[in-house]
Amino acid sequence: MTVPADHLAPVYAQWPLDVVDASGVYLHTRDGRRILDLYGGHAVAALGYSHPRLLAALDRQARSLIFQSNAVPLEVRSRAALRLTRFAGLGLNTVFFINTGAEANENALKLALKITGRRKVVAVEGSFHGRTAAAGAVTWGAAKKWYGFPQAPFDVEFLPRGDLEAVRRSVGTDTAAVIVEPVQGVGGALDLGASFLEALRVRCSEVCAQLIFDEVQCGMGRTGFPFAANLYGIAPDMITTAKALGAGFPCAALLLADHVASHLKTDDLGTTFGGGPMACAMIETVVDIIESEGLLANVRNLSRQIRDSCVVGPVTGTQGAGFLLGLRTRRPAKDVQKELLEQHDILTGTSGDPQVVRILAPYVLESQHVDALRAALISLPA
Ligand SMILES: Cc1ncc(COP(=O)(O)O)c(C=O)c1O
Repeated sequence: MTVPADHLAPVYAQWPLDVVDASGVYLHTRDGRRILDLYGGHAVAALGYSHPRLLAALDRQARSLIFQSNAVPLEVRSRAALRLTRFAGLGLNTVFFINTGAEANENALKLALKITGRRKVVAVEGSFHGRTAAAGAVTWGAAKKWYGFPQAPFDVEFLPRGDLEAVRRSVGTDTAAVIVEPVQGVGGALDLGASFLEALRVRCSEVCAQLIFDEVQCGMGRTGFPFAANLYGIAPDMITTAKALGAGFPCAALLLADHVASHLKTDDLGTTFGGGPMACAMIETVVDIIESEGLLANVRNLSRQIRDSCVVGPVTGTQGAGFLLGLRTRRPAKDVQKELLEQHDILTGTSGDPQVVRILAPYVLESQHVDALRAALISLPA
């Protein structure tokens, strides 16, 4: 057996980028290039790089208390929970902190199955919810591609996107939960739309199933609203979030409506690292920066500018919401992504849809950066 030269599991395709550091919205490479990052490490770097207030909070918390477990009550943890639940609104007043998006979904599904005593979960075609046993079971296409477990831990049914008839047919009194990304990320920056989400809300209430919004990618300000739930004015029973939540510090959260939280008692859920003081200091600071620097409005305005000005060159249209935007391309998206990076030093992403370039820009983006994207797209072959 040959051991990989870098000793890392060879499971990731790698971009031709030798990044040494970054600041603002730019990555710097060893050979001196300055790359405009419109992808943010899969939607994580929501405040760009080296944000001074984030660095100060990280330093302050590390010097004061780097870790204590959930057995020890901490002010910073309570402050982060209060700040996050107020940011979300919608009556989701209780938070359980964990570490990753998949773990958030795993816990949300576990709770829904336990509360309802049912064994079926409904998910949506094109969805991505993570790589663990439960999250992978509700991820579209995982069973064929990489799931790996001999069976799913519960029954799963997938709904076609936007199919209102299928909502009534598939979500019934045997359904514990419906899990849905209101704006699909990996599936292609695709906004599932108010009427489909509203139909899910109505049907879940009718049959007493839990509605889980997976906002791991589309939450924490990415749509220009605190959560996509706020954008659509729909209150789910649970929201899972991660990625932008720590703006680079690994953390995740499960937000619970009061009627869900009322089922919880000691030992029902647990984690060692989740809710650690470093993560909580970051969560508190990220919410503070988003609110005090007017970043939700910035995301909405610049998203509008991209939609209005970037349907040029190989781009035929846009989809998604806020800074979870898809540029629909005439040519394969991977070719357009490669050309933007190689010829114009602009980093974008692709998705499960081969004709969509995915934009997951930092919320601190400026109008001049959108102008640079437009100029680059115009120069590419249509
Ligand atoms: C919508 C969504 N849910 C869940 C996940 C899984 O998150 P993690 O990789 O932190 O486990 C992702 C990751 O891309 C995601 O986009």
